[in-house]
Order: sequence, then structure tokens, then C-alpha cells
Amino acid sequence: MSENRDVSMEKLVSLCKRRGFVYQSSEIYGGLAGAWDYGPLGVELKNRVKDYWWREMTQLHDNIVGLDAAIMMHPRVWEASGHVDNFSDPLVDCRQCKSRFRADHVDLNAPCPTCGISGSFTEPRDFNLMFSTHMGAVKDEGSIVYLRPETAQGIFANFKNVAQTSRVKIPFGIAQVGKAFRNEVTTKNFIFRTCEFEQMEMQYFVKPGEDEKWFEFWKNERIKYYDKIGIRKEKLRFHRHGEGELAHYAKDAFDIEYEFPMGWQELEGIHSRTDFDLSRHAEFSGKDLTYLDDSDHSRFLPYVIETSAGLTRSVLMVLSDAYEEEELEGGDVRTVLHFHPLVAPVTVAVLPLVKKDGIAELAQDLAAELREDYSVFYDQSGAIGRRYRRMDEIGTPFCVTIDYDTKEDGTVTLRFRDSMEQVRVPSTEVAARIREEIKNYRRV
Ligand code: GAP
Repeated sequence: MSENRDVSMEKLVSLCKRRGFVYQSSEIYGGLAGAWDYGPLGVELKNRVKDYWWREMTQLHDNIVGLDAAIMMHPRVWEASGHVDNFSDPLVDCRQCKSRFRADHVDLNAPCPTCGISGSFTEPRDFNLMFSTHMGAVKDEGSIVYLRPETAQGIFANFKNVAQTSRVKIPFGIAQVGKAFRNEVTTKNFIFRTCEFEQMEMQYFVKPGEDEKWFEFWKNERIKYYDKIGIRKEKLRFHRHGEGELAHYAKDAFDIEYEFPMGWQELEGIHSRTDFDLSRHAEFSGKDLTYLDDSDHSRFLPYVIETSAGLTRSVLMVLSDAYEEEELEGGDVRTVLHFHPLVAPVTVAVLPLVKKDGIAELAQDLAAELREDYSVFYDQSGAIGRRYRRMDEIGTPFCVTIDYDTKEDGTVTLRFRDSMEQVRVPSTEVAARIREEIKNYRRV
């Protein structure tokens, strides 16, 4: 049996479309660049990746609480955050064909990559990445609102609310998952960089002077997390931002990079933001955002360590990491997605070997029982081998097959996706066995 675990982007896009993970937005109208729709399996996968992150950050840390802030915020938020002045990319246009490029993504002395004409680029100009719209009946300067380009500012703007209304004490964190919008010029590479995407962010508020310790802590926590969801270690690395790379708010920053089909790229940022955001919001809002530490009666503006991961980008990572084309004995090739069972869109497939003689009824009863605990797919038609392959291709970790022996002795076949191994188990023990297997799951 040989394996090919390096997937091309074309193959991934094609599988995602074919099996209902991700479709191009507005495809029947020719598509909209930079926007994608998550189909029946894609939405399950995305929700599970989100839930896993949420559980990891909030349930497993007793000093991190959640928040769900509005996408639209007071426009002063974005002045205070620095996004109105600083959140821009340098762009050049080709005077000939009107194509637009990020100035740092093309050689300005070379011909235009689209039309091949030399010397046609304009001077680089700063182009703000925020989408803006108007709120209310009057469309003037005063009615402008932005679609948030990051979820973080909703957390900073609510820092005082959360500190005063929950029983958290510094150090504590606020976690949030939600949509963000950026008017990106380069939106190729599928769901990697899009204009509408989702982020999973956590701001950790600490005592000034303790920020470096917590920065190290969160770097370690976050890299361990990817191992827990079964991502291959050799596909992950840290990249520390150099002087010129640091965002306007950051004192220090590390990216966690993943080796995507198009190469090493940022997956998550861990940023030391000091008191930049809280001091700017205090200044722009005129509100006191200091924190009173009742352990020593000191009052200070907390420093912040941020962990900022892309949810939709994580979905691309999980898909790329899971994909494998495995050559089987006899020359057959099976495409398999090795999802961790906790993020797999379908956990168990229930497959009656035949429909007749009461076998399908037995299978339906078992499916109904398993649905109480797991996401179940029931499929009674087609050759059993083909049904297994279909489940492998969407990353279903367990298949349960009901046959004539089930009628005799109450046992079923439990098949494991990764090894294709099959064992016979009493049907009354299937739910518990699957729970055990999920708990002990290690990617091979
Ligand atoms: N609050 C800090 C912040 O937003 P960022 O490095 O600009 O930092 C954090 O973004 C993460 O959000 C990135 O590591 C990436 O996973 C995701 N992200 C950023 N822009 C994106 C885009 N256009 N499409 C998809 N994901 C994006």
C-alpha cells in the first residue's frame, strides 16, 4: 500500500465541490471572487472546527469567557484601533489593462503579469481594506459604518462590561468567533484568503510586566492544540515577525504557519498588543478602562496577548492535512480524508448489507440509537465496497455494517476508516466502543 498525502489545490477544490463541502459563491451567475459557500458537509466541518476551538479556549480554561459582538460597530472604534489610518495595502494598477496588484506581490520593474506590457504600473497607492456602508436614511459622512475587519475590537470595546459583569480576575481572556471582512485584492487559493471570512480570536488581559510570560504560554498552548486535532507536526512551524512585518499594534508577533498545497502560509497569529488598544479606546471614548486589582489595590491598563486564528483558513488546513490518495493492493486507489473524529462532518455511517429480510429495519434502529450521540449517515443502496469508499472520501471515521449474522447473534461489523480494519462487536456496545475510539484516536 503506498500513500500520497500531498494534495494539489485543484484536487481539493474539485473534491470540495463534488462532495458538497464548498461551492463558489453565486456560481449560477458566474461566481463572486473572494466569497465561498459552505455546503452540507462543509458547514458541519466548519461548525465542528469552531466548536473544538471554543471548547478548548473556554471550557478547558476556567478564566476565559465568551462574547458575540455585533459585526457593525461605532465608526470611532476603527479610528481608535488604527484601522482607518493604517489598515491598508500598497497597490499598483496597470494603466494598460487596468489589472490591480499588491505592490509587494509583483516586480514593479517587470512587465504586467496580465497583459505583458512593460512600464505600465502606476505609483503604489495605499488602499484601505475595510468595507464601508451607510446606516440609516441619510447617506453622508456621519452615517458611515464599517464591516469589521477583525473580531478583536468587539472584545476591546466590551472589556469593561465583561470585567464588571463576570467574576473574572486578571489574568483572564475573552474569546469570540465570527465573520470579518477585508477588501482583499488577491483572493486566489480557494478559501485561504477571501473578502468574507471567519476568525476565532482570544484576547488575554494580563498585568503589565507579565506579558512576556503569557506570550510564551499562549505560543505553547496554541501549537499543542493543532496536535490535539490531529494535524501533522511536520506541517506546522513558527515564524517570528521581523521589524518591518509587525502590525501597527504589535510589540512582538509569531505566526503559526502551515504548509498548504501552495506552500508555507500563515494560519494563526499570536500577538503581544501591549495596552495599545485599551489606551486608544480610553482616549477616543473618554472612558476609564483601567482595571482595579483587588489583590494589591493597584490600578492599571492591562496588557494583551492575542491569539488570532482564521476559522475558514483552518477548514482549508484541516482538509489539506486530511487528504490522501492511497494505492491499495491490486492497483486500486482510494481517496480518503483522515479527519480527526471530533471534526469529521459524519462520525458514523450505518450500512445494512442488504435491504431485505428485516436487515434494513435493524440498521435503522441502530442508526436512531447512535443519532442520540453522533452525527450519523444512513445509506442502504449500492455495493458495500462502494459505500465504504464514499464514506472514506468524506472522512467518516467509522462504518457499522448490519448483516444476517446480526439477526443471529446481535453483532455488527465496525470498520475503521484509516486502517480499513473490521471487527465484530455486539450492536449494544457500538456507541460505547466508538466513544472509546474517539477518545484514544491518534492519526497514523
Ligand atoms: N486581530 C488580529 C488579526 O486580525 P491577522 O493576522 O490580520 O490578525 C488573523 O488575521 C488570522 O485571520 C490570520 O492568521 C488568518 O488565519 C485569518 N485571516 C486574515 N485575513 C484573512 C482573509 N482575507 N481570508 C481568510 N482568513 C484571513
